[in-house]
Amino acid sequence: MDIIKHCLLILLLWCDVSFTGLIDVSDVTQTPLLWVIEGQSATMNCSHNKDHSHDQMYWYRQLPEEGMKQIVFTTAYSDHQYESGFSADKFPATKKDALTGSLTVERLLFNDSGVYFCAVSEHRDTGD
Ligand SMILES: *[C@@H]1O[C@H](CO)[C@@H](O)[C@H](O)[C@H]1NC(C)=O
Ligand SMILES: *[C@@H]1O[C@H](CO)[C@@H](O)[C@H](O)[C@H]1NC(C)=O
Repeated sequence: MDIIKHCLLILLLWCDVSFTGLIDVSDVTQTPLLWVIEGQSATMNCSHNKDHSHDQMYWYRQLPEEGMKQIVFTTAYSDHQYESGFSADKFPATKKDALTGSLTVERLLFNDSGVYFCAVSEHRDTGD
């Protein structure tokens, strides 16, 4: 089916899982599901209703047959930090306030299909 071949499935999980530790994805809401045409871009929104100290946002993706990889770390008050293999050109992110953020995937290729996650964590000055 051609239509299927030329569409990308970008699955965004509605996270309702709590990890203990630095990263906590409970009370985080994401765009649940996006179907996009190859070559276009897809923007995913993420928001949470924790307090304003949870102002750090991480974006991850999991492609079929791959583990979860971090794309970028964002805050409203510092430059985004991209992991190697990921660039601001392909994955522009926004973070304007403590509670929301977005990730765009530009020039989508079929192999960008996968599950994209966001997670938030609390700002800490202790630097662990
Ligand atoms: C994400 O948020 C922007 C700005 O509020 C909105 O225009 C866009 O439609 C949202 N995208 C999705 C996939 O919900
Ligand atoms: C997807 O395909 C493009 C073009 O063939 C390639 O440059 C890119 O590295 C691939 N990405 C992944 C995650 O395999």
